[in-house]
Amino acid sequence: MIDKPKKAFHGGAFFGAIGESLRSLERADEVISADVLDAWYDPSPRVISSLAEHLPWLIKTSPPTHGEGLREVIAEQRGIRAESVLLGAGTSSLMFLAFPQLINPGDRVLVFDPSYGEYAHLVENVVGGELVRFELPLASFDPDIESLIESAQKVKMVVVVNPNSPTGRVVARGDMERAVKSCPETIFWVDETYIDFVAHQSMEKLVAECDNLIISKSMSKFYGLSGLRVGYLVTSTNRVSEWERLSPPWSVGLLGQLGAIEALLDGEYYKAQVTETMQLRGELVSGLVQLGVEPVPSVTNYVFGSLPEGGVADLVAGLAARDVFIRDANNLSPRFGDEWLRIAVKDGPSQTRLLGAMKELLA
Ligand SMILES: Cc1ncc(COP(=O)(O)O)c(C=O)c1O
Repeated sequence: MIDKPKKAFHGGAFFGAIGESLRSLERADEVISADVLDAWYDPSPRVISSLAEHLPWLIKTSPPTHGEGLREVIAEQRGIRAESVLLGAGTSSLMFLAFPQLINPGDRVLVFDPSYGEYAHLVENVVGGELVRFELPLASFDPDIESLIESAQKVKMVVVVNPNSPTGRVVARGDMERAVKSCPETIFWVDETYIDFVAHQSMEKLVAECDNLIISKSMSKFYGLSGLRVGYLVTSTNRVSEWERLSPPWSVGLLGQLGAIEALLDGEYYKAQVTETMQLRGELVSGLVQLGVEPVPSVTNYVFGSLPEGGVADLVAGLAARDVFIRDANNLSPRFGDEWLRIAVKDGPSQTRLLGAMKELLA
């Protein structure tokens, strides 16, 4: 018998309710997918209109082989060199390309506990490294930077998801810079999927000074492009040219390349979405507090919190039966029992329905 391949656990149970055969997409309007961290808002109207205008041609045409135009726009918009940018079909594909190049079986890799589950999977099941869990304090979920630096010196690579998922906490750029510069022999992989919800914290520009730094930039969540699959890495030009050898042609489709360019060129639209997201997050947090949830203060488009009495598994199941999906976060740390949950910010009416369903179930 062949063993089932191991995979990281993700949110996304909501797709089961819509139907993974994709034959009943009208169900999407009835299902609340707060178990994944996709944007609650639509992509920029510029993205929609340029894709709609050229749709048949975009679908049938081979894209620029290595996304040269998109790379230029990323470089221009983010103030970095195009030669430091490696594109991929979402950062997931880039992680699976890069990790086997960075670590060998048995190498020690530090990952925050809790953090995005794919990294533990990559270290343990893909490259056969030794996972070193850096336990974040349960009170604040903020790392102590001095002990991070001390631990970082004893490992081959450190992975920091910043802001972190599931916690919604950010490590300030100055602290991150100090850690990266204090440990020049250690590789730092910084995943900035949610960084644009916080002003001025990205470390992309620091790549020009620090050879030990790799920044992972998903365009899925903040830009609302999850379905298009676009992401990039920012790292030393040497590393990028080495990895380009391993990167397949047309790794980002034409819809993705055009959608990403239009999104990057519409900063004003996304700035307005951040303001609204903060407002909606405040409403979600107040509603959760009234239901007895203890939220961890978040800087992102999701809220992590605990039900002190436990019962999250039952709550998640009860909500799913009502087409409302939230994430049971208890499998993200061996220290968790049945008390931690993570909920994505959604539009106002969806949050009202979600909180109403939670109230019924917790009563
Ligand atoms: C922290 C984090 N990193 C990376 C990813 C992967 O994103 P993508 O492959 O869509 O770029 C996700 C997706 O949920 C994420 O939450």
